[in-house]
Amino acid sequence: MITVVGAGSWGTTFAVRMARRFEAGLTGQPVTLYEFFPRVAQDIQKRRENRLFLPGVRLPRSLVISNDLDACVRSADLVFNAVPTQFIRNVFQSSPLWRGKALVNLSKGIEIKTGQTISGVFFEMFPSLSRSQYAVLSGPSHAEEVILNIPTAAVVAGPAALAARVQKLVSDSRFRLYTNNDVIGVELAAALKNCVAIAAGICVGLGFGDNTLAAMMTRGLAEISRLGVALSARRDTFAGLAGLGDLVVTCGSRHSRNRRFGELLAQGHSPADIARKHRFVAEGVATARAAVGLARKAHVEIPIIREVHNIIYNRKSVRRAVESLLARPFVPERA
Ligand SMILES: NC(=O)c1ccc[n+]([C@@H]2O[C@H](COP(=O)([O-])OP(=O)(O)OC[C@H]3O[C@@H](n4cnc5c(N)ncnc54)[C@H](O)[C@@H]3O)[C@@H](O)[C@H]2O)c1
Repeated sequence: MITVVGAGSWGTTFAVRMARRFEAGLTGQPVTLYEFFPRVAQDIQKRRENRLFLPGVRLPRSLVISNDLDACVRSADLVFNAVPTQFIRNVFQSSPLWRGKALVNLSKGIEIKTGQTISGVFFEMFPSLSRSQYAVLSGPSHAEEVILNIPTAAVVAGPAALAARVQKLVSDSRFRLYTNNDVIGVELAAALKNCVAIAAGICVGLGFGDNTLAAMMTRGLAEISRLGVALSARRDTFAGLAGLGDLVVTCGSRHSRNRRFGELLAQGHSPADIARKHRFVAEGVATARAAVGLARKAHVEIPIIREVHNIIYNRKSVRRAVESLLARPFVPERA
């Protein structure tokens, strides 16, 4: 059995996909979707629709909705995590032993209080979880498009046997998974590109052009690759689906929450206002804070993310942050 933990847009979309595959006889694995808030779980179960995060999509008949994490994890042999990063510890604190189970992370972020990637958080929380039981699935995969079966490609990184198992279970012609073994690289690429997307949104919000957006994405990729490599990721992972691929979609797409967050900042909304008025989690906000700490320790320069951090946490104005970036010294491209 499969359990998807976290009934936000991505967790619900992923669970719906897997339940449709089960009902079509393509997998032998029924699916349970866990939601943390009991009232929300009840509402989804009663209406057979996730009105908050995936309105208008009827849930497949076989999809079970639950608010009992212990039971969900106990009965599954494959658990997918789609809980926003900063809530993972809170949600998973009571889950049982992982013997005989595998955990596949679908979320993208770095924990602020520890600076750990999501695998670091899970390995610290669950000493019984080994590296052979852990994988991460990531890439340019907006829920809004995946739910419509729009062709999508992503990557699953982990030990070869588990990555191949997930690839076989999840992939079809509309959702193609490539395998990879650079878990830390995929996690860092997935998390850090969200900060660059906030910067891209700022450029869009300020009315800059395509040149600026391309510069932001390319120099953003350079700095997240630099930080990733310093933290033992492989450089080529950043040129793949979890890095460049996701960066392109997150910086360019109207579906991107991080880009939207940047646009709202540029329009003069404060970070607190945006958090209050809009219900979505923009993972790049917390990740920017964690990334600045990691970069400081690793002695790596991340100028774009640093300015995003200055705007969000040090009340620097958007215009001054942009001017600071444009006034940086002229250096070789591969410095
Ligand atoms: N939305 C996408 O298209 C997409 C695609 C790929 C990956 N992701 C990643 O997947 C993860 C989840 O994204 P999402 O879009 O589903 O997020 P979301 O904002 O839709 O998630 C909402 C979920 O978070 C839970 N939650 C909210 N506050 C909580 C709290 N205080 N304690 C515990 N749980 C709480 C809610 O119960 C709900 O299940 C993120 O890391 C995101 O980057 C999202």
